Amino acid sequence: MNQQREKWGTKLGVILAVAGSAVGLGNFLRFPAKATLNGGGAFMIPYFVAFLLLGIPLMWIEWTLGRYGGKFGHGSAPAIFDLMGKNRYLKYIGSLGVIIPFIILIYYMYIESWTLAYSYFSFSGLLLEKPDPASMKDFLHSYQGVAEGAPIWPAITFFTLTFFLNFYFIYKGVQGGIEKLSRWGMPILFIIAIILAIRVLTLGTPNPELPEQSINNALGFVWNPDFSKLLNAKVWIEAAGQIFFTLSAGIGLILTYASYVDSKEDIALSGLSSASINEFCEVILGGSIVIPAAFVFFGAAGALENAQGGIFNLGFVTMPLIFEKIPLGFVFSGLWFLLLFIAGITSSVSMIQPMISFLEDEFNLKRSTSTIILGVIAYLSSLPVIFFLSHGFLDELDFWGGTFFLVIFATVEVFVFVFVLKFKKGWEELHEGSLIRIPKFYKFIMKYITPLFLLILLGFYTYQEFISKILMEDVQDPVDKPYLWGARILIILFFVSTFILIHFAWRKKKRKEVSV
Ligand code: ALA
Repeated sequence: MNQQREKWGTKLGVILAVAGSAVGLGNFLRFPAKATLNGGGAFMIPYFVAFLLLGIPLMWIEWTLGRYGGKFGHGSAPAIFDLMGKNRYLKYIGSLGVIIPFIILIYYMYIESWTLAYSYFSFSGLLLEKPDPASMKDFLHSYQGVAEGAPIWPAITFFTLTFFLNFYFIYKGVQGGIEKLSRWGMPILFIIAIILAIRVLTLGTPNPELPEQSINNALGFVWNPDFSKLLNAKVWIEAAGQIFFTLSAGIGLILTYASYVDSKEDIALSGLSSASINEFCEVILGGSIVIPAAFVFFGAAGALENAQGGIFNLGFVTMPLIFEKIPLGFVFSGLWFLLLFIAGITSSVSMIQPMISFLEDEFNLKRSTSTIILGVIAYLSSLPVIFFLSHGFLDELDFWGGTFFLVIFATVEVFVFVFVLKFKKGWEELHEGSLIRIPKFYKFIMKYITPLFLLILLGFYTYQEFISKILMEDVQDPVDKPYLWGARILIILFFVSTFILIHFAWRKKKRKEVSV
C-alpha cells in the first residue's frame, strides 16, 4: 500500500473535478441529439427516471466505495473490491473499473484532439471558408486522413499535443494537476457555454422569408413532448445509456476520485452537487446550443437530419456551417470547439487516473514512473484508432467500453455494495461526515429498484443490441471485420495484462504479509 496517498485540496476542488469528469462531449453533442431523436420533451421522462433510479444511486455507491478504499490506501476497483469481501475473484472482476476508463480514454482523447484542432482552425479563419455541408464534410475527412490521399500528420500532431496535455496534468498529481485543471477549466467552460447559449437563444428569425424557422419554434422542436415514443423500449434504453455516460457512472472514475477524499469529508452532498452541475450543463446549456441553432438555419427537417447524422456530423459539420452565417462567426466557432476541448480534457484526465492509482497503490510506483508507463501504452493503443478510423475501430471500442462493459460494471458495483460490503454498512459509510441525510426511501431504491432496473436493462440491451453487435451482424462492409477483430484483440490484451498485474501485485502482498 502506498503510504503517502494524495488528497484533494478543497471540497470545491473535488466537486469540480468530479463535475469536470462528468461534463464532457456527451453533454454538448450526445445529449441534444438523443433528446431530439427520442421524443423531445418526452425523453426527459425516462431520462429523469434513469437519473433518479440509476444515476444518483450509482453515483453515491461509487463515492462510498471509493472513499472506503481510500481509507485503506486503495483507489482502484480491483483493490477496493478485494477489500470488501473474501472471494478471491472479486479483484479480477474489479479490473473492469480500470479497463473501461482506459478503453474509453484511447478513443475519447482522439476525438478531443479534433476539438483542439478545430478551435485552432476556427480562430485562424481556415474553417469557415467552406461554403456547404459537402465541403465541410470533406474538410473533416481530410483532417482525419480518411479522404483519398489526405495526409494524417495534422491529426497526429493535434492528437500528440492533446495527449501530452492530458498526461502533463496527470503527472502533476491529483491536487496539483487534476484539481487545478478543474478549478480553472470548469468556470471557463460555464462562461463559454453561457455565451454560446445566449448567442443561439437571441438568433431570432435569421431568415425573414422563413418565419417558421424562429428560435421559439426551435425550442418547441427540441422540447415539445412526443409521448408516443415512450412506448418504445429503445427510448428508455437510450435514456439510461445517456445517464451512465454523462454522469461518468459505472465506469470506475468517480470511485477513484472519491478515494482521494478525506475519510471524514462529506460525500453525499458533494456527489449530489457534482451531478447537479452536470445536469445543468447538459439539459439547460447542452439543450440550448446545437439543435436549436440547427433548426433556425436548416429548419425542422434539416435539424432532424443533422441529429440523425451522428454527433460528429452535428459538432464538426453543422455547427461551423451555422457559425459561418453569423457576424464574428469565427470567434463563436473557436469558442464552441474550445468549450468541447475543455469539457473533453477534464473528462479524459479522469479516465487515466484509475489505472495510475492502481499502479501507484498496488505496486508502489512513483507518479512519474506510472505516468510514463501508462502514457506509452495509451499512445501506442491510440494509434490504431487514428489509422483505422474509417474501418470502425473507434466505434468498436466505444461499443465495448462506452456501452456494454459499462452496464455490466454498474450492475457489479451495485451488487458489491448491497451484498458484499452489505447494504447497511454501505449506507452508514455513505452518511459518515455527511452534510445531508438522504431520504429513507432511497434505501429501498438502492437495495431493490436500482439492481432490478439494471438487470432489466441488461436483458433488454442484450436482446435488442448486444447480440447482433457481438456477432457483427450490423457490419456493412466485410472489409472492416478484421479491424473490428483487431479492436477486440486489443481489449482482450488489456484484460490479460491487467489480470497478470493483479496476480503479481497480490502475490507480492502475500509474500510481504508472510515475511512480516
Ligand atoms: N461523462 C463524460 C461525457 O459526458 C464521459 O462525455
